[in-house]
Amino acid sequence: MTELAVETHGLTKRFGRQLAVDDLDLAVPRGSVFGFLGPNGSGKTTTIRIILGLAAASAGTVQVLGHDMPGSLGTVLPRVGALVEGPSAYPFLSGEANLRRLDAADRHASPATRSERVARALERVGLSHAGDKRVRAYSLGMKQRLGIAAALLRPRDLLVLDEPTNGLDPQGTREVRSLVRSLAEGGTTVVVSSHLLAEIEQICTHAAVMRTGRLVAQGSLDELRGLGRSRLRVLTPDPARARAELARLGLVVEDDDGVARADGTATVRAALPDEAPLLEALAAALVAADVRLRGFEVEQDTLEDRFVALTGEGFDVAQ
Ligand SMILES: Nc1ncnc2c1ncn2[C@@H]1O[C@H](COP(=O)(O)OP(=O)(O)O)[C@@H](O)[C@H]1O
Ligand SMILES: [Mg+2]
Repeated sequence: MTELAVETHGLTKRFGRQLAVDDLDLAVPRGSVFGFLGPNGSGKTTTIRIILGLAAASAGTVQVLGHDMPGSLGTVLPRVGALVEGPSAYPFLSGEANLRRLDAADRHASPATRSERVARALERVGLSHAGDKRVRAYSLGMKQRLGIAAALLRPRDLLVLDEPTNGLDPQGTREVRSLVRSLAEGGTTVVVSSHLLAEIEQICTHAAVMRTGRLVAQGSLDELRGLGRSRLRVLTPDPARARAELARLGLVVEDDDGVARADGTATVRAALPDEAPLLEALAAALVAADVRLRGFEVEQDTLEDRFVALTGEGFDVAQ
């Protein structure tokens, strides 16, 4: 049995008559970087708020680090760092002063070691050089990293970051990604939500996909990719013969996209089921049927293709 950092069963949240989270069974393995994915409004923030004890569930159970929530909030929360709904620092104070204020608000934190903790947290997120700068002068990426530094003032077993790349430019996104990666290497379980799959796909080991409050897929990235299909893609000046031959071999040929290239070739695609003939046999059969091959390759559904299929809509390319 995998040990789980977060586990929900039948988690449900109603706002009036609206079901924001619907019977959710989430399983976040310890040590994972867990992508919590779904379009805007699919229930990610609501779920995260319940997991963190910031909101009450309408039904269902939550365990965090092996403890029942919200019953064990007091025991569990010191081990959990969180960034929910964007950074919120005082712009007129320096990054360091902001962290000192937050640390001072933590009654478990000894004032004697405050400077050390603050300096370490700033260093952890690569803000040591900007610690004495006012937050007003920070880029959005720096503010986001400061928010993560705040979550890192104490050693954490679990870090929950709600859309940490939201609104960041590509550079800021890369910064947050590499930070998450380094935190995970240190053994912290990281739950990171996003409506943009591409922004976190590279760093996740596991993911869950939400659609209108419901879980539509969950598992390791390899498991999720395995749900995808592969396709044969043939580039040829003889598309009609290629389609006929592939169909004769039992492949389901996809609709012609009607794109013929300037050089007279066209692309023919066919779904490639597990029981399809070997690729070399397919190539040989096409050539034997007088199909001139200019290109021949296998395309795997990307995770993006999967998620578009699962959520019924594309993930926004921009927000
Ligand atoms: N406090 C609230 N009161 C009423 N409806 C809410 C509240 N918070 C969220 N919702 C609704 O719940 C749904 C899920 O929202 P949310 O959890 O914020 O989604 P996400 O974080 O995936 O964008 C949305 O339809 C949203 O409008
Ligand atoms: Mg949200």
